[in-house]
Amino acid sequence: MGTDKKRVLVVDDEAHVRILLCEVLKMEGFACVDAVNGKDALARMESESVDLVLMDIRMPEMDGMEAFRVMRDSWPEVPVIMTTAFAGVDTAVEAMKLGAYNYISKPFNNEEIILNVRRALEIQSLTREVEDLRRVVRTRYSINNIIGTSTGMQEVFKNIGRVAPTNSTVLIQGESGTGKELVARAIHYNSRRSQGPLVNLNCAAIPEGLLESELFGHEKGAFTGAVGPHPGKFELAAGGTIFLDEISEMSPNLQAKLLRVLQDRTFQRVGGTRTLDADVRVIAASNKDLAEAIRQGSFREDLYYRLNVVLLDIPPLRDRREDIPLLVDHFIARSNKETGKQVQQISHGALDQLMAYPWPGNVRELENAVERAVVMGQGGVIMAEDLPVSLRGGAPGTAGPGLPGQGSSLKEKMDAVEADILQRALDDTGWNRVKTADMLKMSRKALIYKIDKYGLTQH
Ligand SMILES: Nc1ncnc2c1ncn2[C@@H]1O[C@H](COP(=O)(O)OP(=O)(O)OP(=O)(O)O)[C@@H](O)[C@H]1O
Ligand SMILES: [Mg+2]
Repeated sequence: MGTDKKRVLVVDDEAHVRILLCEVLKMEGFACVDAVNGKDALARMESESVDLVLMDIRMPEMDGMEAFRVMRDSWPEVPVIMTTAFAGVDTAVEAMKLGAYNYISKPFNNEEIILNVRRALEIQSLTREVEDLRRVVRTRYSINNIIGTSTGMQEVFKNIGRVAPTNSTVLIQGESGTGKELVARAIHYNSRRSQGPLVNLNCAAIPEGLLESELFGHEKGAFTGAVGPHPGKFELAAGGTIFLDEISEMSPNLQAKLLRVLQDRTFQRVGGTRTLDADVRVIAASNKDLAEAIRQGSFREDLYYRLNVVLLDIPPLRDRREDIPLLVDHFIARSNKETGKQVQQISHGALDQLMAYPWPGNVRELENAVERAVVMGQGGVIMAEDLPVSLRGGAPGTAGPGLPGQGSSLKEKMDAVEADILQRALDDTGWNRVKTADMLKMSRKALIYKIDKYGLTQH
């Protein structure tokens, strides 16, 4: 299709106009078909594909306005440019209000015609591209891609269906890797705000001092380094959704500010005086139990109740093992697609291991294990030996390779030492992954990967 000429339908009751326009268009590399009135034009569009319409307004039988209304409803993606004598300008403007791309007055200027045709087609192809991308995003984050038939997950699906169309604030709780972000996306893309932005902010990933300006923006000179005005995430998310991840990591001071935004639905930039509207739906997530954080005094109870208009609790994978075989099939299919491999199934032995393992890293850990097995495995079946060592032989931390001294090869011994160092560092920082990664001078991503790999857990 890409190299095919774009086809323009020229509609005019006067033969010499049709001939002239088609000549000009052909010289510029377009294909041209023509029609003598509105009715004829619609018949043409029924029988062959047309990329753009150039149409006169005053014609016998069916005029341009009437035909345009039908085209707009039946072929909404085909741009229509009206051509008109001076006397018809009012009608042409009317057509533009109804969605025509533009109008051109007669007598024609060839350059003007070509310029308009090119621009309209360019906009059309960009619009198509955006729509394609939207469709991809929507399928990727559709509820169908959240897998699970366990009672716990059914409850989650039911709640997603209930809250998505509302504007309610949602709090998603669940251990690391249980699918909180996936659920947040599903809610956004199935809501009335789905055409608006989804803006993510991980409260643990941003140093305390910068978080306020990240959230609410700042004015020039608000603090050293604020060289210009800067919109915050609440502004960027206008008309859409803001996803506040790891909300438990927010400082008490900011918790108070966020509470005010949720109450008043307004905010100000740091160092600013203007009051801005927060036209934003808030979805917050936490992998810590916030009720517990309240008891310990690190999280405000009033904020908790504001966020917790709807609470979605995602159970850990070890409490819904019946979802494991479905998840495995889903991840095999996806990895096959991404890697071009053709893994058909998983052996009984391997599946038994997956069913017995406690999954401290939850679905993310399972996803990694399956992806790795698809990549590493030979042949069409995943075998037990294709799974990470840490999955074999029961719970990690009890008899797994996480303990120093386990295993015999140098690699295994080194892994064990590494696992031990990571576990201690994580325990020292209270499982703050940002701090731990900083401390060990490694990336957060690498840390998360290793937590999964060694099956480290918070005690
Ligand atoms: N029910 C599910 N079906 C399919 N994929 C899932 C499911 N749950 C989680 N996943 C996948 O597991 C991975 C982890 O999910 P996600 O990032 O949403 O977890 P999380 O709860 O936000 O974790 P964290 O607390 O570490 O941020 C993602 O790749 C996600 O696609
Ligand atoms: Mg997450």
